[in-house]
Amino acid sequence: MKRIAILGSTGSIGQSTLSIVESYPERFAVASLAAGRNIDTALQQCLRWRPRVVSLATEELAADFARRLRSAGVTTTDVVWGSEGTVRVATLPEADFVVSAIVGVAGLEATYAAVMAGKTIGLANKEAMVAAGEIITAAAREKKVALLPIDSEHNAIHQCMRAGRRDEVRQIWLTASGGPFRTLPASEFRNITVEQALHHPTWVMGRRITIDSSTLLNKGLEIIEACRLFDLSPSAIKVTVHPQSTVHSLVEFVDGSLLAQISVTDMRLPILYALSYPERVKSDLRFDMASLSELHFEPPDLERFPCLRLAYEAAEKGGAHAIALNAADEVAVEAFLKRVIPFTGIPDTIEQVLETTPETHPATIQEVLAVDHASRELAREVLAGREASRRC
Ligand SMILES: NC(=O)c1ccc[n+]([C@@H]2O[C@H](COP(=O)([O-])OP(=O)(O)OC[C@H]3O[C@@H](n4cnc5c(N)ncnc54)[C@H](OP(=O)(O)O)[C@@H]3O)[C@@H](O)[C@H]2O)c1
Repeated sequence: MKRIAILGSTGSIGQSTLSIVESYPERFAVASLAAGRNIDTALQQCLRWRPRVVSLATEELAADFARRLRSAGVTTTDVVWGSEGTVRVATLPEADFVVSAIVGVAGLEATYAAVMAGKTIGLANKEAMVAAGEIITAAAREKKVALLPIDSEHNAIHQCMRAGRRDEVRQIWLTASGGPFRTLPASEFRNITVEQALHHPTWVMGRRITIDSSTLLNKGLEIIEACRLFDLSPSAIKVTVHPQSTVHSLVEFVDGSLLAQISVTDMRLPILYALSYPERVKSDLRFDMASLSELHFEPPDLERFPCLRLAYEAAEKGGAHAIALNAADEVAVEAFLKRVIPFTGIPDTIEQVLETTPETHPATIQEVLAVDHASRELAREVLAGREASRRC
């Protein structure tokens, strides 16, 4: 029986993880849960799974949650909050597997703490790897901890890599759906609405990753995540646009063979793979071979999707540039969702922040968080400056 801590239990990946736990009660149990602000869903989860510890984003939410839990007669769950709370959830001695699925850099400290505590990690929180991948992978090597990717592309690469030795890999191909604007002319990008950007053609996901998929910044974050997870240089990571999202990614070996992983577009499959690794367990997530009528691949357009170019540049520089790429994007996506900036303001903001980011390589999580903080400030200044010049 694996006892699981879920960071981000109320999100899209967190809820899919709980549905896997529900389907395999003989294999998996819930040890602890970390949510953010959605206390209604967290309460339902708590009543169903009776975790040892639950964390919420703030002290006020935790107090409200604890009251509601007591009214429901639950006295066996500790309620904690904030980053200390997520660390407690991630390092609980009873937990042997941590699903890292908080969105953004908010998941970094707990993911790192879980590695340091020797837990096996199912990694969905790509931003933690982008901001601090070098530190996390070094800690994982030292603690002999497995980092098992849940992101469908990296999960596909992980599966294909099992077919050969590491020195037999020439390069990898990450597939990208291309998002909702794959064929939209450049002249129309400025007028893209929030509703259009939130309508992903093949996946149902959280808001941030959905917007990132529409700008292709998500693919850029995945390039950096892949560099860290598979110890590859950015030049060994190619992107191909594949609108059907049927092939989840490919590994190209030195002899010219390409291995691809194909499955349904359902995140429960990579979650199940990570939770059960190194075993494979039976599931009803069947792929319909009759649907394999068309597989289309095309190169990405870096002109219309500058976020991908910016991500490749940040991947080459690494360190502070990777941190700033993610931080500036988090701020810019939030501003876009609040309708403060147009769609094209997202890459513009990131580019301006990266232009003034020094080439440093933070060596500790605290240093990473300091660069993250400074990059967010810079992004807010860029946005404020743009707003001021718009008003003039
Ligand atoms: N969804 C996918 O298909 C998919 C695929 C590959 C990778 N990923 C990656 O997986 C991660 C999660 O994605 P998602 O789509 O599941 O996002 P989501 O649906 O937006 O869920 C995010 C989760 O993080 C929690 N959270 C946010 N801020 C927090 C904070 N300060 N403290 C504690 N918890 C906090 C949220 O809590 P509340 O909702 O309670 O506020 C929620 O549980 C992201 O890094 C994403 O890039 C997702």
